[in-house]
Amino acid sequence: MIPDKAPEDDVFHGAEEMRRGAHVPTFDKYKEMYTQSIEDPDKFWGDVAKDFFWKSKHTGRFLDYNFDVTKGEIFIKCMEGASTNICYNVLDRNVHDRKLGDKVAFYWEGNEPGDELTVTYRELLNCVCRFANVLRSQGVTKGDRVAIYMPMVVELVVAMLACARIGAVHSIVFAGFSAESLCDRIVDSQCSLLVTADGFYRGDKLINLKLIADEALQKCTDKGFSLGRCIVLKHLSKEAQETSLSSPPAKRPCPDLQETETGRVRKTRPVPQVPWNPEVDKCWHTLMGDVSDECEPEWCASEDPLFILYTSGSTGKPKGVLHTVSGYMLYTAATFKLVFDHRPDDVYWCTADIGWITGHSYITYGPLANGATSVLFEGLPTYPDVSRMWEIVDKYHVSKFYTAPTAIRLLMKYGSEPVHKYKRDSLKVLGTVGEPINPEAWQWYFTVVGDGRCPIVDTFWQTETGGHVMTPLPAATPMKPGSATFPFFGVVPAILNESGEELEGTSEGYLVFKQPWPGVMRTVYGNHGRFESTYFKKFPGYYVTGDGCRRDKDGYYWITGRIDDMLNVSVREKIGAIATPDFIQDAPALPKTRSGKIMRRVLRKIASGERDLGDISTLADSSVVEQLFHNRCCTAV
Ligand code: WT7
Repeated sequence: MIPDKAPEDDVFHGAEEMRRGAHVPTFDKYKEMYTQSIEDPDKFWGDVAKDFFWKSKHTGRFLDYNFDVTKGEIFIKCMEGASTNICYNVLDRNVHDRKLGDKVAFYWEGNEPGDELTVTYRELLNCVCRFANVLRSQGVTKGDRVAIYMPMVVELVVAMLACARIGAVHSIVFAGFSAESLCDRIVDSQCSLLVTADGFYRGDKLINLKLIADEALQKCTDKGFSLGRCIVLKHLSKEAQETSLSSPPAKRPCPDLQETETGRVRKTRPVPQVPWNPEVDKCWHTLMGDVSDECEPEWCASEDPLFILYTSGSTGKPKGVLHTVSGYMLYTAATFKLVFDHRPDDVYWCTADIGWITGHSYITYGPLANGATSVLFEGLPTYPDVSRMWEIVDKYHVSKFYTAPTAIRLLMKYGSEPVHKYKRDSLKVLGTVGEPINPEAWQWYFTVVGDGRCPIVDTFWQTETGGHVMTPLPAATPMKPGSATFPFFGVVPAILNESGEELEGTSEGYLVFKQPWPGVMRTVYGNHGRFESTYFKKFPGYYVTGDGCRRDKDGYYWITGRIDDMLNVSVREKIGAIATPDFIQDAPALPKTRSGKIMRRVLRKIASGERDLGDISTLADSSVVEQLFHNRCCTAV
């Protein structure tokens, strides 16, 4: 019998053809560029910055920072003195300077097969300028926070870029979240306006988004915070036919759409209820009809806020992670280009929702900064059947595909047949993000989905890091299934033990970073103390990810999961009686967020038998909670 190889001895090399024309073609080249990025960050990021338009140039050091709480306040500043506009850089510059006006920015694929829309860079720019004027006409000015609660439609991208154009700060709330979560986020960031939609379908299920938004606004009022304006996109209801995108929308022929003359969404199913309060509610389409399509961007300082995004947070109330203009722009652009080895004729598809950081960085900002063509998908991987993903891959000839291990494991259950129904021969690079990918799922993704041809980029990062921090580069890095491999340029990882000592060579401990990269978060909105205590207090001088990590004999990094989720099983003598379990409960599954974080406060409440769990809308699968309560009763008897 041949003994099983340890996963760390399993090494896969990217296909030879990947190397031709690749941005980083070999591992030696990666090492050379990595060293340069650490030794001379000003040169490395200065070269990236040359691709962008700066209204005024930066003065002084490229990155200035303090990571040591014992030496004073934590801060990170990138390109101080420079001014720019990220919306201008991802749209105007592509349309006017790079002549990409007619290039497709998004192929929108609706929940229902056949609902679709193609949007070019010129159309997107036109729409964003108009919506930016709408926001200004509603009194939104630079620095104001705008809450966005929308399904995966092109107008969501339009709304976020319109905010960026006028220097307003977007705060996007995932459309699967409850009224309570939306209210908490609106109040925390004191938003002056909400942009939402009538509703949307998730598979067969109608979500009455406007009803939930109204409930959230009522809750805000109850808490003494009133938000005066709500702009509503009619995505499913009648008026949607006067589509907001520049007319006429470039639509592919689709008999159903033409038959029903309803614009882009089929009318074969019930439309949502849309309660309307004329004092507060304004129709997106009506407002868009009244404004010009020219809009001078607001020139922003490098460190002006760009957006707030709340982390799901396994403990306590969600944190408003704040990202700023210049550093985030450079970092998402550079990581997108190099990690997906972007080429001009690529069709890229990231299946995440824009309500998460993955969508912010790798559906909107990173791809658009590179003039990429992306698929924007409203639906589910299992609707109307489990082949949907591969059908879309073939339909748009997707070459770079980015998804989460949960999606891969879900589809894996149905075997290879639904995958093999489609050719998938356009695929070149596959990506994953969100949690460690187990080697079985990696193998299935590699062999069944990618036919053994496509490198897998296992990208480790966080809402807080803004973009990929540990990741293979598809042509350069030999892959090991389950390992996020090596740091991206400018990122310096270390592994610490409990006493905060840096471990060398083969080791396991806390994953930390020793210096900033341009895209790292700047603060927790409205609570800088919480920023310092969460990420910098435990080990002064380091950014603490909260993840555990192992380094193998070849220097590969393996993320082992959130440290606070691990149970120390050395029980009583070493840890002390206080940490001895009261009882041990059988748990078929744990209450995890969509990114795999265990919600410890929920576990605590289950343990104490408390039924009121508070806001659990971030749970990936809420049925787990019922199961745990059930098992608890069984244990008690
Ligand atoms: C946490 C961040 C980054 C966008 C999605 C989640 C886990 C993320 C990986 C990976 C192992 C991963 C970590 C991290 N994680 N990617 N490739 N391998 N773990 O964003 O909600 O901020 O969660 O997700 O535990 O800390 P998030």
